[in-house]
Order: sequence, then C-alpha cells, then structure tokens
Amino acid sequence: MPTSSSDHPESFYARLFAKAYDPVMRQLEERLLFSRRQALIGQVSGKGLEVGAGTGVNFPLYPSGSDVLAIEPSEAMLRQAARRLDQYGSAGEIKLMKAGINDSALDKQIAPHSLDFLVCTLVLCTIPDLEVALDRFRTWLRPGGRLLVMEHIHDDRQPQRWLQHKFTPVWKRLAEGCHLNRATDQLLKSAGFRAIEEQYIHTRFVPFYWAVLEPPAK
Ligand SMILES: C[S@@+](CC[C@H](N)C(=O)[O-])C[C@H]1O[C@@H](n2cnc3c(N)ncnc32)[C@H](O)[C@@H]1O
Repeated sequence: MPTSSSDHPESFYARLFAKAYDPVMRQLEERLLFSRRQALIGQVSGKGLEVGAGTGVNFPLYPSGSDVLAIEPSEAMLRQAARRLDQYGSAGEIKLMKAGINDSALDKQIAPHSLDFLVCTLVLCTIPDLEVALDRFRTWLRPGGRLLVMEHIHDDRQPQRWLQHKFTPVWKRLAEGCHLNRATDQLLKSAGFRAIEEQYIHTRFVPFYWAVLEPPAK
C-alpha cells in the first residue's frame, strides 16, 4: 500500500475513533444512510476516486466496471478499510492509499480531467480547506464526470442552526475535525458544481444533503 503522508504514530483517540466508527454509526446507517449510499455508488462506472474512505463502508457497493482509488489519511481507518476489503471484497477494483485530499502525491496518481466520478460521503464536513479540495475536484473530473455526495449540513431551522454553530468547536475535537455548521451544499454550488439530482433529508438534529453533481463546463 503506498504511503504518502508523514508516518507519525496515531493518537490513542484516533485509533479509538476508527474502532468505534462503525458501531456508533450502525443505527443511522440502517435507518437513513446505507440505502442512500447504495443509490449513489451503485451507479458508477469507469475510473474514480473515493475521498476519506474511512472504514470502507462504500466498498461492497461498487459495481463491476468501476476502478477506484480510495484515499484515507488516518492509518487506523485505513487498517479497518483494508480489513473490510479482505473480508467482503468488492465487485469494483479498489486500490487503497494513505493520503489526504490535499496531498501532493495524488497529482502523480491522477491526471487532470481523467476521473469519471468522485465519491465523498460524510467527509466534506471534515476536510480542513474545502475550497482547495473543490478546486482539485474540478481539475480531476472529466467534463460530464460525476461528483457523488452524501453529507450532513448546517440547518436552516432554529434552534438547531444555533446549536450546531455553538457545539462545533467541541464536536470538532470529538469527531476528528467534523464541522456541524458547514453549508456544504452551498459551497459546492458556489464552486460551480451543478446538481443533476439532489435530496435534502431532514432529521431532528441535522439535515443531510445527497446529490449527484457535475463540474462546471471549462
Ligand atoms: C466521518 S468519516 C467518513 C468515512 C467514510 N467516507 C464514510 O462514508 O463512512 C470522515 C473521514 O474523512 C477522513 N479525512 C479527514 N481529513 C481528510 C482529508 N483532508 N482528506 C481526505 N480524508 C480526510 C477521516 O480520516 C475519516 O476517515
């Protein structure tokens, strides 16, 4: 497995977070997320990138004919992802790489306008410099390629909006950098991505945004 980020030993908390991730998410996955992952990932074909693959929840959903580079900066998450791939496999071709989205090593792996699709599930909330990442997405996707997104977003409703804002500094520490108050749907649109299909899914605490988007025309 190629490594490209610096290999600092990970904190106990990062390892705990990776171990706890699937059990903590199980109910929400069953109730809300997993069927939407299927709808998103089941339609891909060709060459793609999955950003922040985490424990590899999406891997079993890739169809044959898909060829995916799955990047993940956390060593502990990557171990879980490799284990899942060993255990359940995938109809798609999946290559794992230790990297964050702004890692320069990716430029050697991905030529401009070469990707048919890019998958981001529950990761755009965490990437520190989202605008830089979106710029890379625009560079890497081919014209007519697809950006597939499932993300929790900042609420329009009160008091949820206020609470999400207030709670974000603490939540960021608990959830490894996740922002509860990021308006990812709007940031995507401001960056020129156009939604071909989109859904807003409301839960009591946070809304989710599910979308198939295309990059702006050159
Ligand atoms: C909440 S988890 C989601 C994992 C997976 N995408 C899913 O749908 O279950 C967020 C993941 O993003 C990863 N991540 C954090 N910063 C990142 C970055 N700059 N580039 C890529 N991935 C990142 C984290 O290590 C973590 O595994």
